[in-house]
Amino acid sequence: MKKTMIHMFFKVLRLFNKRFFVPFVCAHFYLTKVQHNRLKQLCGIENKELESELNAHLQSTLQMDGPPVLFASARMAFYAGLLAYGIGPGDEVILTGFTCAVMCNAVLRTGATPVYADVNGGTFGTDATAVLGCVSARTKLIVVQHSFGIPADADAIFKAAEQRQIPVLEDCAISVGSTRQNQMVGTIGDMAIFSFDHSKPLNGLVGGAIFVKDKARFQRVCEIQAQSPSLPMAMQTRQIKQVWHERRLYHPGLYGPLLAFNLIKSVLLKSKPLFLSEDGDGATPTTQNEFYSYPSKMPAYAMQLVLWELQRWPETQLIRKRFLTELLSLFDRHQLGGLIQEAYRSPDIVPLRLAFCVHDGGNLKRRLGRFIDMGWNWFERPIIAGNKDLSVFAYVPGSCPVAEAIGHTIVNIPCHVHKRFQKSLLKTLDWVLCHYANDVRSDTDLR
Ligand SMILES: Cc1ncc(COP(=O)(O)O)c(C=O)c1O
Repeated sequence: MKKTMIHMFFKVLRLFNKRFFVPFVCAHFYLTKVQHNRLKQLCGIENKELESELNAHLQSTLQMDGPPVLFASARMAFYAGLLAYGIGPGDEVILTGFTCAVMCNAVLRTGATPVYADVNGGTFGTDATAVLGCVSARTKLIVVQHSFGIPADADAIFKAAEQRQIPVLEDCAISVGSTRQNQMVGTIGDMAIFSFDHSKPLNGLVGGAIFVKDKARFQRVCEIQAQSPSLPMAMQTRQIKQVWHERRLYHPGLYGPLLAFNLIKSVLLKSKPLFLSEDGDGATPTTQNEFYSYPSKMPAYAMQLVLWELQRWPETQLIRKRFLTELLSLFDRHQLGGLIQEAYRSPDIVPLRLAFCVHDGGNLKRRLGRFIDMGWNWFERPIIAGNKDLSVFAYVPGSCPVAEAIGHTIVNIPCHVHKRFQKSLLKTLDWVLCHYANDVRSDTDLR
C-alpha cells in the first residue's frame, strides 16, 4: 500500500512537471462558445433531421452505397450487425489479432466465439493467409481490420469469403478515407463499421456507425437501433462538458498536469463513468451494466460534432498526410527510414498514427514517453484490454505469433495532431531520433 502511494506520488509529480506532453486525442480546438451551446441544446434529445443530415454526409464522404445506422459506439454498431446476421451460440467470428476488448465482447455477447487471425507485419492489419487458415465450417463472419490508416491487403479474403458465402465486415474504426487500388476502406465488405470515439479519425467524443449492404439485414439493424434507448441524460451532460474540457486542456502544454490532476481525483473521488468503458479493459461481458444500455443510440450532440468534423475533413486529411510526409523525412534524415513500413509511403493513405517497431537497440520508447502519452500506445498485446488475462476473450496464447512479437516492440506516433503543435512535436522527435540513431551506431561499433 505504502509502496503504491509513493509510486503514485512520484507519478503525479512527474506529470505536473511535463511542459510538453502530446495526447493521442485531437480535441475540437475550433469549437466556439456558440457551437458548444448548440451541443448543450442537443443534450438528451433525439433529432431525426440531424441524423439524416449526418447519414447523408457520411455516405458521400465515405463513398458508400447507402446510409449508415448510428449507435453510441462502433462496438454496439458491430453487435447490431452480428444480430442482423443471426450470429449466436455455436458460431465463430474471425477477428484480427490486434483488436480491442470491446470487439471481442460484442461477439461474446451474442454467444458466438471469437477466433483470432494473426496480423500482417507490413500493414498491422488483417493478414489474408492467417484468416484463410482460421476459416472453419462454423465461421459466420470475417472481420477485416484496417489499422492506423493503412488499408489491409484483403483481396484474397474477399475472394475466398465470396466463394464460401461468408460475409465480411470491414473494421474502419481506426482508418478513415484511405484508399487501396482506388477503393476506399469500408466500401468492399458486406458491412463496415466506423468509430467516432475521441481517439479516432472523426472525433464525436462517442459514437459509431455501421453500413450494411444487404437490404433485409440493414432493416434489421435499423429496427435494433429504433428499439435502443438513448444514453442517460446525466451522462450526456458530463460528456458535453468533457468536449469543452478537452478543447481547453488537451494540448501539449496542459495535458501532463491535467493527467496528474485526474489521477488525484480518481483516488479521492469515485466519479461516474464518462465513456462507454464498462466492457473495455478486460471486463467479462455482461448483457447489461448499471450505467447505460447496450446497444444505445448515438447522442444528437455527438452527431453534430461528427458533422462539423466532416465539414473540415478535406482540410484535415491534407494536414495529416502532410504531417506524415514530414515524419517520414525526419526518419529518413536520421537514416532510420528502414524502421517504417513501406505502406506508409503510399500517397493514398490518411494516417491516424505512425506505427513502427524498435527492437530496443536504443531507449527510443522510453524517451518518447517523456513527450507522448505512451499509455495510449496501441497493440502492445493482441487485444487492448488493460493488463487482463486474454483468455477471457477466448484468445489462445501463441495463436497470433506476429501480433505477439510486434506487440513487444510497437511504437505509435499520433498523426492527427493539430497544426499548431506539429512543429514542436517534430522538433522533439528530431531529438529522440538523433539519440536513437547514435545508440544504434554505437551498438553496431561495439559488435
Ligand atoms: C480496431 C478497433 N475496432 C473497433 C473499436 C471500437 O470502437 P468504439 O470504441 O467506438 O466501440 C476500437 C476501439 O478502440 C478499435 O480500436
